[in-house]
Amino acid sequence: MPESESGGRGELAIRCRGLAKRFGETVALRSVDLEVRRGECFGLLGPNGAGKTTTIEILEGLQFPDAGEVEVLGLGWADSSAELRSRLGIQLQETELPERLKVREVVALFRAMTPRGPTVESLIDQVLLGDKSGSLVRQLSGGQKQRLSLACALAGDPDILFLDEPTTGLDPQSRRHIWDICNEFRARGGTILLTTHFMDEAERLADRLAIIDQGKVLVEGSPRELIAGLGGDHIVDFEMSAPLDPSVYSTLPAVTRVDSVVGHQRLATLAPHRTIQALFQLAEQSGVEMTALSTHNATLDDVFLAMTGRQLRDN
Ligand SMILES: Nc1ncnc2c1ncn2[C@@H]1O[C@H](COP(=O)(O)OP(=O)(O)OP(=O)(O)O)[C@@H](O)[C@H]1O
Ligand SMILES: [Mg+2]
Repeated sequence: MPESESGGRGELAIRCRGLAKRFGETVALRSVDLEVRRGECFGLLGPNGAGKTTTIEILEGLQFPDAGEVEVLGLGWADSSAELRSRLGIQLQETELPERLKVREVVALFRAMTPRGPTVESLIDQVLLGDKSGSLVRQLSGGQKQRLSLACALAGDPDILFLDEPTTGLDPQSRRHIWDICNEFRARGGTILLTTHFMDEAERLADRLAIIDQGKVLVEGSPRELIAGLGGDHIVDFEMSAPLDPSVYSTLPAVTRVDSVVGHQRLATLAPHRTIQALFQLAEQSGVEMTALSTHNATLDDVFLAMTGRQLRDN
């Protein structure tokens, strides 16, 4: 696998420092620093407009930053673009593939542009499109088109796969197909940088991730580390008929964090049963009623909320 040529795991596949980018008045990136290790799957998680595509496209050499440094596989875009092109596989957020070509022809076209790589048949098999090989692109479903564009990204047997929102708009089964293809690529030693606004996708695929919002990295770590940062692995979400002073909630048993989300309170807790029992007592003593109550295991969405006061999935 390419990895043996390019060094072992543990080295950096991608490194950027101080990336900044404006589009007129819009500040897309403020100062983004990232380090992606070889062999890992790194996720950029953030809401619409956070700067994910801008970041990934700068790293892919498709956009120029206004400021900052980029190193990919230890090389820079200014003097090694030809070598980098041959070692990277890129799936854009929106890919327009030629609608009148057959699946097999599209993959052959991409394969012909790369100096090395698997056979056209094996690429088609990797993305489970064997039975669609003779179909026209315009006859494919959304999920099949995404898999075809993944086959194109894999055509040159890349060291790094860049995936910008690989599963947006897909049904659960198609999403799992894409995840399986990513996991197989990883198992062969490949590095992945992906963007997503799905917390479950980030949790499922990424070894480490950066949560990005308004052009800045808010926090970085493994999904487990980020969730552990909340202090409690359960969330109690509730609403009272009249608001109480939120500081009172932090005194309830097992509570590690208190957050407010439009009309709701969210408590991170180590022991939801104890917290909920105390919450009912508090409501009674205060003469208010609990009008909504739910609990769940803490997720990256809760991490995002704790950092921004907003919910990731509603953006
Ligand atoms: N070509 C452009 N011209 C003007 N503004 C742009 C351009 N590209 C991006 N922007 C702006 O930069 C900001 C970051 O956009 P970007 O596409 O990087 O976000 P994103 O995180 O990928 O969002 P999404 O989840 O919607 O894909 C947004 O405010 C966007 O409107
Ligand atoms: Mg985007």
